[in-house]
Amino acid sequence: MRKRIGGGALALVLMATAGSVEAGSWDERVFTHHVDFDAVAAAGSAALPGLIARGRELFQAKFTTADGAGRPKATQAIIPTKRKFGVNPAFSRLSGPDSDSCSGCHNQPVLGGSGDTVSNAFVSEGFESPEFDSTDPSFSSERHTTALMGAGLVELLAREMTADLHAERDAAVAQARASGKDVEADLVTKGVRFGSLKAHADGIVDLDAVDGVDADLIVRPFSRKGVFTSLRQFTINALNAHHGMEASERFGVRWTGSHDFGESGVPDAVRPGDVSALVAFQATLPPPTVKQNLPEDWRIAAAEGEKHFDELGCASCHRATLPLKSLIFTDPAPYDTAGTLRAGEVRKGIVIDLSKFPFAAQLKRNAKGEWLIPLYSDLKRHFVVDAEVADLGNELQAQRFVERDVFLTPRLWGVGSTAPYGHRGDFRMLNEIIAAHGGDARFARDAYLGLTKDERDTVIAFLRSLVIEAP
Ligand code: HEC
Ligand code: HEC
Repeated sequence: MRKRIGGGALALVLMATAGSVEAGSWDERVFTHHVDFDAVAAAGSAALPGLIARGRELFQAKFTTADGAGRPKATQAIIPTKRKFGVNPAFSRLSGPDSDSCSGCHNQPVLGGSGDTVSNAFVSEGFESPEFDSTDPSFSSERHTTALMGAGLVELLAREMTADLHAERDAAVAQARASGKDVEADLVTKGVRFGSLKAHADGIVDLDAVDGVDADLIVRPFSRKGVFTSLRQFTINALNAHHGMEASERFGVRWTGSHDFGESGVPDAVRPGDVSALVAFQATLPPPTVKQNLPEDWRIAAAEGEKHFDELGCASCHRATLPLKSLIFTDPAPYDTAGTLRAGEVRKGIVIDLSKFPFAAQLKRNAKGEWLIPLYSDLKRHFVVDAEVADLGNELQAQRFVERDVFLTPRLWGVGSTAPYGHRGDFRMLNEIIAAHGGDARFARDAYLGLTKDERDTVIAFLRSLVIEAP
């Protein structure tokens, strides 16, 4: 449908958008209703099965123009940004909208998993002219789809690590104030060292020696770059970037002055309760497992490979487990900033006790009763590029002020089910991505290449035993 406004030489021709499409009662739409956040929070655990089921539906849903998909007049940027001119195409492989559903990409080997290279996404802070800029690697970075299995446990680990680092900082500041002397504090949480800081008596904190985390000491476990704090924050980004679905808590009237920032014609397309449903679904996805019933020869090889993995120093970054004190997942999350619903903005939060889910029974516990989360990561960022081993240094722009050659240690649980490998999915084989580790990982990579062919093979046998299996 085309609509003419004005007349004569100044006639403006506007492409019809959802706004001008009167959705009929039989038209395709996902949002026949919205989830009421406050009602779900008030209902407590009784509401959770319904919330998770709705999240699963939304994760698989193909959003339509009647739902508000498309953001014709806004870009994919995380911070609400208007297009400078023109309207977005309904589909743009690079700048988005690039797909119809979350599960269009996160589907291998099961719903919520990883994806084929065809599902790579292109991430950027903002495009002036999206169809054009986004094809240029100096404006956008290409990324392989990450599996979301165990994502709730990962977020909980990061929250506890952040709390520890903040407590260490605050203690150093208090001690410096009290003693009138500089206090240097090591930043260590769950056995992972994030450098150190120096607190001065006047309350100023010197953060130059902080390592692998932002200066605000918030551990950000999501994205290959490690720059996103919570499932909630990421989900709002993803809804907008991939589908042009704008969540009211970021794109709504509070921050943009409009109920329909992207001019899709559908006001407040995604409500806080809808986002919570998607978060609840992702947060309760069971973590990856170790392949069951391995043939004897594979079992023996994997056990030997695991030993090498330790001895080579792989586990210094890919920590086999991190201990988690509490399995209580609260939504909203504690460390989000404006544009993602925050705890202070709701009467009561949604509480999901992950210990009630069958996967919790499979988690080992240490003597302190902490759950050992077998993620094979330290949730810390590292340099993985140097002058000789530089294949991972293929991005031309820094993301969120994290240098180009720095990436978060990816979780290796499930890595046997998520090929290809590397942030962009450039490596088809495990042996190839291991050989591509440079920078701070160079020592372990060199040690790996120093093994015999048969010994290296056992490391592969081990990694391939870490899988995502259908529950
Ligand atoms: C076009 C493919 C595609 C679609 C559609 C898509 N994703 Fe993703 N997703 C990705 C890629 C690629 C990454 C890795 C991004 C990065 O590392 O910067 C990712 C990462 C994520 C992460 C962070 C995981 C982690 O551990 O780092 C979350 C959470 C996520 N997606 C949720 C969603 C949700 C929710 C939707 C639907 C609203 C969605 N995604 C739709 C491709 C997609
Ligand atoms: C200094 C920290 C560090 C060490 C040591 C290290 N890695 Fe990594 N590893 C990383 C980072 C960071 C990446 C992500 C690189 C990228 O995608 O750009 C990675 C990526 C990987 C991947 C690809 C995962 C995926 O899904 O894409 C595998 C497999 C892997 N490492 C195995 C190993 C093995 C085996 C060793 C020991 C020989 C090792 N790593 C040593 C930090 C490290």
